[in-house]
Amino acid sequence: MMDLTGKRVLIAGGASGIGAAAAAAFKQAGASTAVFDIAFKEERLAEGVLELPVDLSDSDAVKAAFERLWRHWDGLDVLVNNAGIELVASLEETTEAAWDRLMGVNLKSVFLCCKAALPKLKISRGCIVNTASQLAFVGAGSFTAYTASKAAVVNFTRSLALETAADGVRVNCICPGAVDTPLLRRQFEGKRGPQGTIDDLIGLHPIGRLGRPEEIASCILFMGSPLASFVTGSAMLADGGYTIH
Ligand SMILES: NC(=O)c1ccc[n+]([C@@H]2O[C@H](COP(=O)([O-])OP(=O)(O)OC[C@H]3O[C@@H](n4cnc5c(N)ncnc54)[C@H](O)[C@@H]3O)[C@@H](O)[C@H]2O)c1
Repeated sequence: MMDLTGKRVLIAGGASGIGAAAAAAFKQAGASTAVFDIAFKEERLAEGVLELPVDLSDSDAVKAAFERLWRHWDGLDVLVNNAGIELVASLEETTEAAWDRLMGVNLKSVFLCCKAALPKLKISRGCIVNTASQLAFVGAGSFTAYTASKAAVVNFTRSLALETAADGVRVNCICPGAVDTPLLRRQFEGKRGPQGTIDDLIGLHPIGRLGRPEEIASCILFMGSPLASFVTGSAMLADGGYTIH
């Protein structure tokens, strides 16, 4: 059992799926835990977790959310950038607005939160864990914009790790395969997804099933803990073997 008592952990995008599981894992490990998410209606303390509503793609809103967070905490040890949306569309179907929205949530939010949190992370010699995707490393038809956003998160992670290594701040990302979350289920609502059915998608994972949010949360927890003290600039695949071939 990991003991992160005394650590302050912020999950950006943690109201559901992988982020909610990560928040639960850090809380269970004894960390003070806060969550930013667009799905929240108001600031509140829910079973010991501080919830703050914010659109993470909006720089003014992100600034305001961190100002509110600093009223509760005077520092930060772990930032998890997990907010993400999917866009299932061919290039011809992808509008400029949809592209901007996707990049705003999946990529710009990572930039905005890292920028806001870095001064505190330098003081605490803390760390950042970003959620990318196995689709950062392979192509996927109808996911052109999504794969581009996640590949960018991987190289953002590597370059920021270089920038901050001398300050003792580690930066890593986790690259999940298909995980059974609301985001994934929305792809298949009443239709075949671009990868066919859920069973077809499962077939792309040699492990023979979808991942569970808790299985990705445990990778995030590891990366955010002292157990990963020599790990920085890493893109950890947790994809059930999707990218082995
Ligand atoms: N589920 C998968 O198969 C899978 C695979 C690889 C990577 N991922 C990545 O994992 C992360 C979590 O995805 P998930 O599957 O748990 O999805 P999810 O939809 O369950 O959770 C995503 C969370 O991000 C929040 N969010 C979305 N837009 C936001 C915004 N503008 N501001 C603030 N919060 C916002 C949502 O409200 C939600 O709570 C995403 O970055 C996703 O791209 C998921």
